[in-house]
Amino acid sequence: MSAEIESYSTERQIFKPGRNFQKRAIISGPQSWDAAIRKAEKNPEAFWETAARELLWRKPWKKALQWKPPFARWFVGGKLNVSENCLDRHLDGPRRHKVAVFWEGENGERRSYTYWQLHRETARFANVLKSLGVAKGDCVAIYLPTIPELAVAMLAASRIGAVHNVIFGGFSAEALKERILDAKAKVLVTADGGFRKGAVVALKACADEALKSCPGVAKVVVVKRCGTEVAWEPRRDVWWHEAMAAAGASCPPEALDSEHPLFILYTSGSTGKPKGILHTTGGYLTQVALTTKWIFDLKDADVFWCTADIGWITGHSYVVYGPLANGATLLMYEGAPLHPQPDRFWQIVERYGVTVFYTAPTAIRMFIRLGEKWPARHDLSSLRLLGTVGEPINPEAWRWYHRVIGAGRCPVVDTWWQTETGGIMISPLPGATALKPGSASRPFPGISADVVDRDGVPVPAGQGGYLVVKRPWPGMLRTIHGDPERYKSQYWSQIPGAYFTGDGARKDKDGYFWIMGRIDDVIKVSGHRLGTAEIESTLVAHAQVAEAAVVGRPDDVTGESIVAFVTLQSEYHPDAKLGETLKEYVAKNIGAIARPAEVRFTEALPKTRSGKIMRRLLREIASNGQVKGDVTTLEDFSVLARLREEE
Ligand code: WT7
Repeated sequence: MSAEIESYSTERQIFKPGRNFQKRAIISGPQSWDAAIRKAEKNPEAFWETAARELLWRKPWKKALQWKPPFARWFVGGKLNVSENCLDRHLDGPRRHKVAVFWEGENGERRSYTYWQLHRETARFANVLKSLGVAKGDCVAIYLPTIPELAVAMLAASRIGAVHNVIFGGFSAEALKERILDAKAKVLVTADGGFRKGAVVALKACADEALKSCPGVAKVVVVKRCGTEVAWEPRRDVWWHEAMAAAGASCPPEALDSEHPLFILYTSGSTGKPKGILHTTGGYLTQVALTTKWIFDLKDADVFWCTADIGWITGHSYVVYGPLANGATLLMYEGAPLHPQPDRFWQIVERYGVTVFYTAPTAIRMFIRLGEKWPARHDLSSLRLLGTVGEPINPEAWRWYHRVIGAGRCPVVDTWWQTETGGIMISPLPGATALKPGSASRPFPGISADVVDRDGVPVPAGQGGYLVVKRPWPGMLRTIHGDPERYKSQYWSQIPGAYFTGDGARKDKDGYFWIMGRIDDVIKVSGHRLGTAEIESTLVAHAQVAEAAVVGRPDDVTGESIVAFVTLQSEYHPDAKLGETLKEYVAKNIGAIARPAEVRFTEALPKTRSGKIMRRLLREIASNGQVKGDVTTLEDFSVLARLREEE
């Protein structure tokens, strides 16, 4: 594997924590960081037990970890409740009437909830779920815009031991259906619509379409968000506000086993259908709570804004659970970053006095394009810490973020993790770590990440290899819902004795990790993780398409964009209109995020003798227009020549 990251020159530039920041930080100074890492290395289980003790347990655990590879159980025998930890626990002290959630709608609407209010809403909605027949272990699907009801629905499910399955509001009816069926959801929570770029996204209409093929969903709760007309199925549909008005405001939290499932969240893999990543209760909350506290240095006076959509893991862990478990004030924004003007984010930072801001490199690159004048219009002096997640951040973007948004004053924490890891795994601690732009620095204490070769042997500093995790960690996925075999083969069989992340990386001589991106067939568009197989099978489902191969092409703003190579059934002929039709077809069937930037028609796809499509070659053609790599396994060389001609 070759290093793809501009590296040695940038490594020399180091940003040390400022004295003021360091003085007040929860983890302060490089020695504390080193000491925490060393201590956790000696006894990782004891380290995580100390973290778990910060939560409220109804029954103590007997054993920190039970490890029957590749299946882990954390805090075995312990009982707790996530919503109790995120809400009830804060009601006894000064946080009782502290703002838990500031919310701003895209249309400018504003609401806020104190811990006491959020607790009451959650208990009420837990009672609503019960009244609709939801019991412990049942799955509740949630398909909502970014509104407070989304957090309330998640917390309410966790309160009664129901398992939530949040589906990103940008997904189509087809994608929604697939995720509801796979998770066997009994109830769906949705809204009439949500606001995005000034328009209404008709969620209820999509849900109605999806539910035609989901007989298991007996009840649908509908939030009135936009006031638009919706179709109504009287035996199935109930309005959120009516059900809430009829429900009691008291609902004691269930004491749940530490390994009780908390949620299923679907993510794309390199092959086949989306994977239902299963996360459980005690270990997940422990890791998410501690990483939020240490990495975002969260204190009572902070206003924490993670801009991720709650439909992704970042939103689960760092919009909802991490901040609430810490009794923090979080901010939620419903809409698009550039609506109605490119300064919307900075306006929000100024209005609420946001102190800690966590976003994605793709957003930063978009802001760079738009120019410094937009942030310059606002007073961003409340900010004290910045973070990024989702893909590698190029050092230029890092420096811009640090200089323009952070005024050179705010540390930038580049956090590496995945849907599967539940919480952050590799990241600086802002008051302790010397930062190198472009590097996520070192693994969090208690996390045994490493860079190894195919045989699992660590590679020397400076050399590229596979990013793995060698020991189980509390927030790790427990399985793929309904498919433990796929869990084993996908994550625990590729590199001997370790969890394989699917990423390439290298470590430098200081032990800093430089993530080189995915090595499997996963494309990251604007931080959204998309499986090539899912897009390809959608294209092939179109009547005129014979075969399709989808690859990522580097893109300055979105990180990667999608290029689809398509061969048609013999009776059809390519034209520009069909290209547009196919783009639209993918957007309709998966969601707008999966829309190909380009459709290229070709007479044949490059294949190996065994018939595997050589996406690597297509990637090269899509990116540079030519192939430099090894082509010895190619079956038919004329295909390449033709692909180039067809450009
Ligand atoms: C993949 C996981 C969990 C956060 C949201 C994405 C890439 C994530 C970084 C980073 C370089 C990163 C990796 C990873 N990634 N963070 N700081 N630097 N790459 O979750 O959709 O499950 O994607 O995102 O390739 O494997 P996800």
